[in-house]
Amino acid sequence: MNNTIAVIRGDGIGPEIMDATLRVLDAMKLGLQYDFVEAGLAAYEKDGELLPQATLDAIAKHRIALKSPLTTPVGEGFSSINVLLRRKFDLYANVRPAISFPNTRSRFPENVDLITVRENTEGAYAGEGQQVSEDGATATLVQKVTRKGSERIVRYAFDLARRNGRKKVTVVHKANILKSTSGLFLKVAREVAAQYPDIACNELIVDNCCMQLVMKPEQFDVIVTTNLFGDIISDLCAGLVGGLGLAPGANIGADAAIFEAVHGSAPDIAGKGIANPCALLLGAAQMLDHLARTDEADRLRHAIRATLEARDRVTPDLGGSGTTATFADAIIERLG
Ligand code: NAI
Ligand code: MG
Repeated sequence: MNNTIAVIRGDGIGPEIMDATLRVLDAMKLGLQYDFVEAGLAAYEKDGELLPQATLDAIAKHRIALKSPLTTPVGEGFSSINVLLRRKFDLYANVRPAISFPNTRSRFPENVDLITVRENTEGAYAGEGQQVSEDGATATLVQKVTRKGSERIVRYAFDLARRNGRKKVTVVHKANILKSTSGLFLKVAREVAAQYPDIACNELIVDNCCMQLVMKPEQFDVIVTTNLFGDIISDLCAGLVGGLGLAPGANIGADAAIFEAVHGSAPDIAGKGIANPCALLLGAAQMLDHLARTDEADRLRHAIRATLEARDRVTPDLGGSGTTATFADAIIERLG
């Protein structure tokens, strides 16, 4: 079994939440080894490169990375490092669980338990020919949906449902308007769904889906959708369960997988030691699931839940007065 993971400590609050996360993982005595590599602003300031080759090599070698948020420097010619990583390793599935936790600022304290599976490599993106003038701007929005891309993401969603004992997959689309692209996605999704008779499947148009998520989130189990819709829906779902400090995400491909917090490097609170480490910790739990160490993943999630339940040393974003370090201590004490 692979026990070495590439670790990117990241920028802003990144190193603070990564230190807390690794301390919790070490306390679990999992036998994990860390290969520390750099990316983002930290790498750029050191070597003039946002994504050094050594980092790519480490991810390719270990096939698993735990990554803190990265700051993309503001200015011309810097593309998002996260997008580069997705392309480089063909990380086609963006998997975002949203599960209610106690004592958050969510309006849905107990009945959300869903996973959004977002296609991460195709969909709608701004193409060539962007023009901006005093009066307005034009750009060609290119949409790309392939049979292969749709099939593998929908299959991923159904397999995930099966592995996790989940009962239903909701296919989210806009095939009524985007007839060719979203239409193809829906058609392929129906074909795949027919191969999983043990899992229920329903279809929702994306705008209706957003309303349903806010009105009756408990009806959802697994959601699968294309890139842009998944981007928006997964953040909506993060809001349902208490916000960015509790939202993890995984980017999964056939050859590599990267686990992270959904939030950014939070420059406004960086260096203050008050960042909530839970999103990255929950990302680490997803990583343990991926490594087929589900019992350990559950043990970690249970300790986080129990700490939130007790409101013990939680950080200011959750209304507490704890620090990143004391929050981690409280979780470690509950590992059992
Ligand atoms: P952000 O997510 O960093 O911050 C938004 C707000 O949420 C801030 O008020 C911040 O203090 C708060 N927040 C975020 N994480 C928190 C945590 N763990 N605990 C407590 N409060 C938390 O988004 P923003 O400000 O738009 O982006 C800052 C930088 O992060 C940018 O350079 C952006 O490019 C980068 N970014 C990186 C991502 C990644 O590497 N995955 C994802 C999103 C943004
Ligand atoms: Mg987003």
